[in-house]
Amino acid sequence: MTINEYNFAGKKAIVRVDFNVPLNENGEITDDTRIRGALPTLKKIIADGGAAIIMSHMGKPKGKVNPKLSLGQIRGAVEKALGCPVSFAPDCAKAQDAAKALKMGEALLLENLRYYPEEEGKPVGIDKEDPAYEEAKKAMKASQKEFAKTLAAYADCYVMDAFGTAHRKHASTAVIADYFDADNKMLGLLMEKEVKAVDNVLSNIKRPFVAIMGGSKVSTKIGIIENLLGKVDKLILCGGMTYTFAKAHGGNIGNSIVELDKLDVALEVEKKAKENGVELVLGSDSVCCTGYDFGTFSVKPGAQVKVFPSNAIEDGWDGLDAGPDSRKKFAEAIKGAKTILWNGPAGCFECDEFTAGSRAVGEAIAQATAEGAFSLIGGGDSVACCTKFGLTDKVSYISTGGGALLEAIEGKVLPGVAAIKG
Ligand code: 3PG
Repeated sequence: MTINEYNFAGKKAIVRVDFNVPLNENGEITDDTRIRGALPTLKKIIADGGAAIIMSHMGKPKGKVNPKLSLGQIRGAVEKALGCPVSFAPDCAKAQDAAKALKMGEALLLENLRYYPEEEGKPVGIDKEDPAYEEAKKAMKASQKEFAKTLAAYADCYVMDAFGTAHRKHASTAVIADYFDADNKMLGLLMEKEVKAVDNVLSNIKRPFVAIMGGSKVSTKIGIIENLLGKVDKLILCGGMTYTFAKAHGGNIGNSIVELDKLDVALEVEKKAKENGVELVLGSDSVCCTGYDFGTFSVKPGAQVKVFPSNAIEDGWDGLDAGPDSRKKFAEAIKGAKTILWNGPAGCFECDEFTAGSRAVGEAIAQATAEGAFSLIGGGDSVACCTKFGLTDKVSYISTGGGALLEAIEGKVLPGVAAIKG
């Protein structure tokens, strides 16, 4: 069943969206990309004359109620964006009455699914090494099914539209689908769009294909990096990863972030790139600082900022952004690309002193896109960079997925898709 074929008139649809949006300290949304992404599906349900029961997680409350992660904070914003009354159910597993009372043409937003450990389906309070762990896991899987069944009972049909969470096999993203027949479960419009964008990159690669991977750790990106080495022509590795590579070659990296247990991985990546004929582009210089506050994203009073070669950073200095030489190298590598994938910033872009690296990457991507490249941007930070630098309309596609996008690009079948498509 596809959503465009389905007529929601008189039906209650339970829709899994990814409203895991960033909030400021006042609980206000700082980037509503994910809410806007879900609107076409939600609006179709309402326009058809149906009702939408909207469910999502927010953050990682680890199976406990955490008011800071309440979806109640965004109810008003969802109502405004959707343009119909949106009520709120403060307990997602006890929303039977609210679901029953829901009128056609209206929506009901459920409280954070992850207040219940059953959503993720992992046993809590027991170590993996504990002999009783397997038993606890089995019991949790059974509770997870019950939880999914409870959610399913609110509605006549199920729509999976949470691309950002489609790589999780959770109660609301996958297990729930078992409680609907094939004619009453479907992927939403955002999912269809995202899957198509990934397809565009994977099955229709126009060369040169340039990927830019940033962020702080090699360890969290190694799967996708290895996978990309079999696909791309050039791979730019930037951000905090730079220093693990510099250190692996015996460089001095001062106080910069490094994964000392991943030095061999860095060397292996370089070796594989060479074997595969992939041009690996690493930053050669860095903008460094003597006192950066990672909590407030600001330079501490009295701290200094200076450029060093990325492999000759003095003690007491922390590499926080790509230097002018690196920026030039990155822009040159992106120039002329016909397929581009960007995930992860080139520096601590949240602070104005360290935006230049990510800006250079973003602007080079925009330029290449204007010259005919297909550019796909994913991951909260890269998307935030595009917003910050006014580039959202200058790239081909901005994904609402981070981890989900990377797994899809790796060619993995996402559980959220498999649950619907089999
Ligand atoms: C994300 O922000 O990437 C998604 O909402 C998934 O969140 P998770 O990594 O906590 O599952």
